[in-house]
Amino acid sequence: MYYLDQNIQELHRIFDQNERKNYLRLDLNENPGGLPEEFIKKVLDDVDPQFVSQYPETLHFTEILAKHLDTDIQHLCLVNGSSEGIRYIIQAFTSVNGRIVGVVPSYFMFQIYAEMYGRNFVPVPYTKDLDMPISHILEHLTKETELLILLNPNNPMGNIYSEEEFEKILEVCKEKEITLLIDEAYHYFYPKTFIHYALTERRIFVTRTFSKLFSMAGCRLGYVVGHPEDVQYVQKYCTPHNTNAFAMKFAEEILESPDILSNLISKFKEGRGYLLQALEEQNYLYQGEAGNFLFIKPKGDAKEIVQKMKEEFGILIKSYPSIGKLGDCLRVTIGEKKYMEQFMEALVKLDRNTSS
Ligand SMILES: Cc1ncc(COP(=O)(O)O)c(C=O)c1O
Repeated sequence: MYYLDQNIQELHRIFDQNERKNYLRLDLNENPGGLPEEFIKKVLDDVDPQFVSQYPETLHFTEILAKHLDTDIQHLCLVNGSSEGIRYIIQAFTSVNGRIVGVVPSYFMFQIYAEMYGRNFVPVPYTKDLDMPISHILEHLTKETELLILLNPNNPMGNIYSEEEFEKILEVCKEKEITLLIDEAYHYFYPKTFIHYALTERRIFVTRTFSKLFSMAGCRLGYVVGHPEDVQYVQKYCTPHNTNAFAMKFAEEILESPDILSNLISKFKEGRGYLLQALEEQNYLYQGEAGNFLFIKPKGDAKEIVQKMKEEFGILIKSYPSIGKLGDCLRVTIGEKKYMEQFMEALVKLDRNTSS
């Protein structure tokens, strides 16, 4: 008997992210400059035929990661990009038609996975002023809620939660027996973390990625942090050898070279400082407290600017419709200063010549 899952049949996916290599990519929150070239060469110099021919071993790298996070390996599950970990958490800790609560706008895969597995995603929208009062989140947490997804900081809004706010949310989650997923993809751009809760309590997960500050999106590597009793279930979903040897090798070398990390952070900060000042000077409104991205309210038409930025300047950015009081916006990845200069030069030229 032929069978096709109805959720998959009806699911709408967009796979439009090819042919980006000849552009300056400020659309997906990658590091546009990447890791230093000499570092890449040094890491690849160690690669021999056995390294490529054998299945990757995860134990060694998991131990290094555990040391970096000051924990032990039982709290960690390596995944092929944090989006894989998010998927397994949704699969394991929610049921068909189960209620998942999450803020919107946000990383789109939460809703995609919810649809893929027939879960009921309940959105908590931002206010017109682009705030997310935690009372709005709490209002949506019912006894039937199985999973709450928070982002620290959120993408694309860039908002954050104080410890006090987080504790309040956690209290309600515990009272109503709701599993909590905290996506920390943009950790390091914004150092405050809730990882200690995931390390010490049950039913709390933190997901992280090597795609953003670590500049390894092309390698695909992320991890799930949680209590060993919970992490074991995420691990069970993983395909054998789910994380590849090159990704773990690069990540290991970065974790073992603190200079690389601090350099990436300081280049990012310089780029962000430049961009914010340039936007102020040009009288632009913008939004984004944390993360390596910013919403900018253009003076002209957002979609037209995105199109022309690509065609005339070879720069990829994104537009988002109806971002509260800002209206239609541009979302731009923040990278090192030279790329921000390129972007600002293009924006100033284009935004004069597009219709408003
Ligand atoms: C909030 C958030 N979580 C997760 C991811 C996925 O990251 P990964 O490359 O680790 O799958 C992204 C990617 O943009 C993201 O913005």
